[in-house]
Amino acid sequence: MRSKVTVVGAGNVGATTAQRIADKGYADVALIDIVEGLPQGKALDMLSAGPIVGSDADVFGTNDYGDTSGSDVVVITAGIARKPGMSRDDLLLTNMKIVGSVTEQVVKASPDAILIVVSNPLDAMVQHAYALSGFPRERVIGMAGILDTARFRTFLSQELETSVTNISAYVLGGHGDSMVPLIGSTTVGGVPVASLIEAGRLEEIVQRTRNGGAEIVSLLKTGSAYYAPSAAIVQMVEAILFDTKEILPCAALLNGEYDIEGLYAGVPVKLGADGIEEIIEVDLTPSEAAALRSSADSVQELIDIMAANS
Ligand code: NAI
Ligand code: 2OP
Repeated sequence: MRSKVTVVGAGNVGATTAQRIADKGYADVALIDIVEGLPQGKALDMLSAGPIVGSDADVFGTNDYGDTSGSDVVVITAGIARKPGMSRDDLLLTNMKIVGSVTEQVVKASPDAILIVVSNPLDAMVQHAYALSGFPRERVIGMAGILDTARFRTFLSQELETSVTNISAYVLGGHGDSMVPLIGSTTVGGVPVASLIEAGRLEEIVQRTRNGGAEIVSLLKTGSAYYAPSAAIVQMVEAILFDTKEILPCAALLNGEYDIEGLYAGVPVKLGADGIEEIIEVDLTPSEAAALRSSADSVQELIDIMAANS
């Protein structure tokens, strides 16, 4: 029997995620949205690609959470996306309500699922979904670090004219201005990046990474990135469904790890059939540790705003 993945939100990120999974054929996909007809239409279109791409996966659209029941993984992309000039934090109160109501319905329909939260501001939304879900922390995970790290690796590969596959890097911390690229442990073909790119230029690449989402928003003008985000989500879905135990940077609830208590932050985790199977504590320089702490503090500020408005 194929696994079942529900994708909540049939917009750019949700639909592209559903398409990537449906095309590969290893899981049936339920696409759900608040807008009537939107998930049904997109899903039917994806389903009709099956004979061409060689996939027998069922893809269906719905507005009824009953149809999502028994999902193994639920990806939450519902919410509004940024427009030029907006920060991810500007989405906070609108997406808090959306993610809250989605989480409650998803949990009722699929009490054993693993939740992957994508809606922004990511770290606050995943913390909110965790609090409402009643799930253990292993089963509520945020997607951001894989995307931020992929952007960093892309820009480094352009700079050094080398394959992205040669670049090993981690971007930890929050999904926003407080993200923390670990320069000291970034290597290119095993060689530390700091010995290949001069410090000023490296800082420009780090800034471009931090600004990676905004750069795309300013080009698109009507929405935000979705090709790389959906690829990152699918990497997490596959690690879970195939129990690969890959170590990937994801937003996880820290209970003392990295000296952070009770807050979500982007850290390397081992992902497998049980969700987060281990939180990996890498050695950080004092400035990286301070940046991670300050990124967690920024999440706390958003949580306080949410609490004051709920
Ligand atoms: P979009 O606007 O294309 O799609 C959002 C969809 O959510 C719409 O179809 C809308 O009808 C639906 N929706 C709204 N309220 C809903 C509800 N209560 N129940 C079900 N569906 C509902 O936006 P896009 O580009 O797909 O982005 C989605 C979210 O993901 C945004 O918050 C965006 O900022 C975030 N994002 C996060 C990334 C990350 O790295 N964590 C990367 C890219 C996007
Ligand atoms: C991004 O980084 C919008 O958070 C999203 O592209």
